Amino acid sequence: MTDSPESVFGRVHLGYVVIETEKFSDWRRFGADAIGMHVDGLDTRTMRFRMDDHECRFLLRRGPAEDVTALGWQIDDHESFDRIVARITAAGVPIREGSEEDSALRGVERLLRFPGPKGIAQEIFTTARIRAAPLRANSRFVTGESGLGHVAITSKRPTHMRAYFTTVFDARLSDYIDETVNGAKLKARFLRVNERHHSVAIAALRGLPIDPIRTRVQHVNVQVATLDDMVAAYQRVTRLGFPMMWEVGQHTNDRELSFYAGTPSGFEWEVGWNPIVVDESTWEPSTHAGFSVWGHQREGETIAHKFAQFRRGLGSLGSREETVPALSGSGIPDHGPLG
Ligand SMILES: [Fe+2]
Repeated sequence: MTDSPESVFGRVHLGYVVIETEKFSDWRRFGADAIGMHVDGLDTRTMRFRMDDHECRFLLRRGPAEDVTALGWQIDDHESFDRIVARITAAGVPIREGSEEDSALRGVERLLRFPGPKGIAQEIFTTARIRAAPLRANSRFVTGESGLGHVAITSKRPTHMRAYFTTVFDARLSDYIDETVNGAKLKARFLRVNERHHSVAIAALRGLPIDPIRTRVQHVNVQVATLDDMVAAYQRVTRLGFPMMWEVGQHTNDRELSFYAGTPSGFEWEVGWNPIVVDESTWEPSTHAGFSVWGHQREGETIAHKFAQFRRGLGSLGSREETVPALSGSGIPDHGPLG
């Protein structure tokens, strides 16, 4: 794909994730003891996880949401940063500077915040604060150019969500996956903003405007450096009694080997190893049949769970999903053949 001179593609990286929760002691066990991240408790209302030399990769604040509330995107240079700001401003969408406290908590010099799909605030920054002190962590993680990992979001309005990330960050479609899960036909769109195969995945029930997931984010993914790191994390998650949502398996599109644990807040946490890196000179989007080459079996699924999920999905029929229309294109059919 050729780059337009205005494109910021490749200069955008998932930098941090903000989570609101009341379950601090469970999250400390989950993030540090099970997943293997470095933990810093700042005060009784604030906890952070580190994966590398960035001061903060996950910021946990006390509050009732039990969910991801904001995504922070690192932008490589001020020119790209200004371009993104100009797009948001031109669309008439409010963009605000975070306070000094906001920036300090997230371990960045300065940040701007604007509304995102499903009420997930989007934040952009250029300079992360670096902590020289060595990590006290049980896992080694892959971040750098690829960013900290990815998020997967369920949506009733997937084409709008895709358009949002394309408009704001010049996201590119890596591929689609079609799959039947629990009898429902799913279509997932995988978007990249740099060499990582996807930084955002959008999953939707085909032809059905319902969202079966309570949380705004269905899962967060982090990438570990070695197979041994992945196996050790799997063993710690199991030993500490956190739910294993999907057993070890390998994805069809990015070939990542991974498992999914249940977080204390209810969304899922994928620990993956060895995903492919996209070569822009040869990559062509395609459609894969199914999420996994093998594995990713669901343990302990009961009819009651499926029924509860279905009921929640039906409940979402009446609720309108936030899309930030000024940045999400207009007149795009949400369940048409495109998108
Ligand atoms: Fe994932």
